[in-house]
Amino acid sequence: MPVRSVVLETCLLDPIGAELRGADLGEGLDDALFGELKAALLEHGLVLLRNQTLTDEQQLALGRRFGPLEGEEFMVGREEPSLLVISNVRPDGTVAPAKTGQMRSISINEVWHTDSSFRETPAAVSIFRALEVAPEGGDTLFASLRLGWEELEPARREALHGLRAVHDYGAAYDRAGGRLPDEARALMTPKTHPMLRVHPETEKTGLYVSGHASHVEGMPSDEGRKLLEELVAWCTRPGRVYRHRWQVGDLVLWDNRCMLHRAQGFDEQHRRVMHHVRVAGDGPVVEPSLR
Ligand SMILES: [Fe+2]
Repeated sequence: MPVRSVVLETCLLDPIGAELRGADLGEGLDDALFGELKAALLEHGLVLLRNQTLTDEQQLALGRRFGPLEGEEFMVGREEPSLLVISNVRPDGTVAPAKTGQMRSISINEVWHTDSSFRETPAAVSIFRALEVAPEGGDTLFASLRLGWEELEPARREALHGLRAVHDYGAAYDRAGGRLPDEARALMTPKTHPMLRVHPETEKTGLYVSGHASHVEGMPSDEGRKLLEELVAWCTRPGRVYRHRWQVGDLVLWDNRCMLHRAQGFDEQHRRVMHHVRVAGDGPVVEPSLR
């Protein structure tokens, strides 16, 4: 069989990320296309493809090209545990009342974070597909942890070596005014990760901080929290954030090993349906050696 050579058009997003044009993943995903997609993701941290027609099964298959998927053990009873439906639409097709159920439980995603840092091995890649979008609001914002590191002054960089942050979802829920269900709280115990990480594929260093981290190990709680907030604010300062306004058919992939993101709320009387697949990481967060 002849090898198809794919040449996707790359349009840089402002100020980070890239839109890839010229392919509908619903029409198939061969090795050449996947290779281009993955290379763009590793380079830009975020890729957007518009007007995609892929099915849930194709979205899951796309995720599996990167590696094993995370199971959503917190969504017990779901037919497909690796496909997370983020929606305010009930099974009967009606819109759930605002601020109830699932929408409230995901409100902590409105702070800057990187996915699955409650795991010893946090997520590698997240894949979002927009099926229904609100007329306004519901954007997703992205910032680069790699750039955040590269743009830090050398003296500040040095002081971060060896520090570890405690990622505590229970505390993050408490801060957001919510309550993590007891069953999930028992599973999502606090985990510590280095505040600097080497990307396992690009080998580039980045910060690894999140609004889901509560404090820094061995540092007075207030001081550690302030440091974490400063670093997140640095990465997400004006001019460094890409804001994605969703359209139906959008497919966005981002690399949690070098990117922060956060959700924006929306008027919950409108329907919004997103399908999310998360690729598992391949090992604990590794910090750079001090040179
Ligand atoms: Fe997230």
